[in-house]
Amino acid sequence: MSTNINNNGLPNIDDLQNLANELFKALPNEFPKEISLSPDKAEHPRATKIAETILQTGHVDPLDQHPLAIPSNVQPAQHSFSGFGVSPSVLNYGNTGASALYPNAGAGFDPQSKNSSSGVQENHDLNINDPHTGFHDINLNNGSPQLSEESIFSSLLLNNQYLPFQTQNSSFEIELQAALASVDTQFKKRDDNPFNGNDSGASYYFLEQNPFAFDRRSTDIVVGNSFDAKEINLYKGHHFNAELVKKDFPILRETVNGKPLVWFDNAATTQKPQSVIDRIAYFYEHENSNIHRAAHELAARASDAYEAAREKVKAFLNASSVNEIVFVRGATEGINLVASTWGEQNLNSGDEIIVSNLEHHANIVPWKRLADKKGLKLRVIPVDDDGQILLDEYAKLLNSKTRLVAFTQVSNALGTVTPAKKIVEMAHAAGAKVLIDGAQSVSHMKVDVQHLNPDWLVFSGHKLFGPTGIGALYGKEDLLNEMQPYQSGGNMIQDVTFEEIKYHKAPNRFEAGTGNIADAIGLGAAIDYVTKLGIEAIGQYEHYLLEYATRLLKEISGVRLIGTAKDKASVLSFNLQGYSNDQVGQALNKEGVAVRTGHHCAQPILRRMGVETTVRPSLAFYNTTQDVDTFIKTLWELKKVKF
Ligand code: ALA
Repeated sequence: MSTNINNNGLPNIDDLQNLANELFKALPNEFPKEISLSPDKAEHPRATKIAETILQTGHVDPLDQHPLAIPSNVQPAQHSFSGFGVSPSVLNYGNTGASALYPNAGAGFDPQSKNSSSGVQENHDLNINDPHTGFHDINLNNGSPQLSEESIFSSLLLNNQYLPFQTQNSSFEIELQAALASVDTQFKKRDDNPFNGNDSGASYYFLEQNPFAFDRRSTDIVVGNSFDAKEINLYKGHHFNAELVKKDFPILRETVNGKPLVWFDNAATTQKPQSVIDRIAYFYEHENSNIHRAAHELAARASDAYEAAREKVKAFLNASSVNEIVFVRGATEGINLVASTWGEQNLNSGDEIIVSNLEHHANIVPWKRLADKKGLKLRVIPVDDDGQILLDEYAKLLNSKTRLVAFTQVSNALGTVTPAKKIVEMAHAAGAKVLIDGAQSVSHMKVDVQHLNPDWLVFSGHKLFGPTGIGALYGKEDLLNEMQPYQSGGNMIQDVTFEEIKYHKAPNRFEAGTGNIADAIGLGAAIDYVTKLGIEAIGQYEHYLLEYATRLLKEISGVRLIGTAKDKASVLSFNLQGYSNDQVGQALNKEGVAVRTGHHCAQPILRRMGVETTVRPSLAFYNTTQDVDTFIKTLWELKKVKF
């Protein structure tokens, strides 16, 4: 194609436009995606590329001019401008934080207790000698004295250690570590530092002690009589020290009505550790930029941090590729995305969708709307009186018209853990696709998408100790690439002309416009935190706490537990005779205990259980037996007034 020349001697603008269009059309579909999402490439190619370009074009390396420039004899292996994720607190987090749980964990871990008659430690497969975290804590060396910031820094350099957000020991990060080490020292010493609290003069995080150490709290508060002294000791001597973990969550130092806050509304949302709060602040202080768009340093930092967060979600779910992880607002948006794209494209009148009776509204309403619009049939897997899925009945619902099975892994209203792998296998055997709602499961148990094998899985960041307004949709890569875009605009396109639009492949295809960059990065920090505690250890501790609370709750006559499945996580729904649920909620609030009362956005399952609403305490790993005791004591006091 040739271009005409204008009167002013410049090429004709339309011809140039056409030329450009032809060029982009001729390029393969993946190009020119600015960030390579291939996991086998370096994690931060854009920042590296910018750095290389600057070096090639003879720009002065800004590191050389920095007052904290690394000594010339330190040769970084790879140059990157990636400035992702190393916050002042993170450095300290490395010294004393959750990753420090493991080096000393053996000291408080009693393998014998695995065989305890209570069964509370069954399924404990945490390998203390081979922890999941790759971040070795150099400052917690089996009781060795606290290292100075300088020695931490040199040790990081010498031992090739990385900070939690790092994947490569590049010069920029080394420089940043030095700068932050100095900032952090000052930060910790500042009297007015609101994060310092009163209970620790020296450290920002409070996990210097090992949360797996023996919990020595006294055993005298239990009300009720089902526990003999031996059992109480067994429960309270559990090896996960939630009291220490709790200290990482600043909001849990709040008081309500003069009482320490007991947060038992974790199914609605979880609280955030300091590391997540700091990570988001760090983004706005040091990295804030739009992503995937510009050739400047902050764009590279922000893009790197965002894509590193995607990597973390991928690893957390054990997905095969980062291309299978789409950032969305939360589980609700993830489900709506699948309904509006795959559902709209593939489902036709007469097709059937199966959901379970346990679903919360987010996994009912989008399918019901689609069913009404397209003449689909919505079928429901029933549950038994304990709130457990009836697999035989499910088998009867599956047939050649079944196109989709959408179900929850953990019920938000009852706590039932569903047999997810079995449900997926049965759906696939019938030729149906499967979506798992992981909103209530990912914070309590290992969720491995390659093991469970759903076609899609959704979860919300705010229920995983991360920020609100961010979550993830996992989808099998080929399937995602077959799906039409959800929303359209910038970022999701490969090329736009007025004649034709080419879309990116997943995940960018589904991330139109400027997304929630900071909170995606915050979600990455939440995943780091949970990973360092160990999701298996979390699950085991919560199981113990749930058993502890359930047994005490059952002691109170007049309490009806709603949802008594054999396999439960976190949730204890109940009614108390003689009181409305709101009255119980208010009485608990007076004691500082936050629970949700109401229908929990899951009306069908509550009605199936014969109630409209319940009181719903829901537990997380920072809750303690003492929290449970406060809750139980309040119920006993209410009961005493009435009967
Ligand atoms: N689905 C959330 C809950 O269970 C909001 O409370």
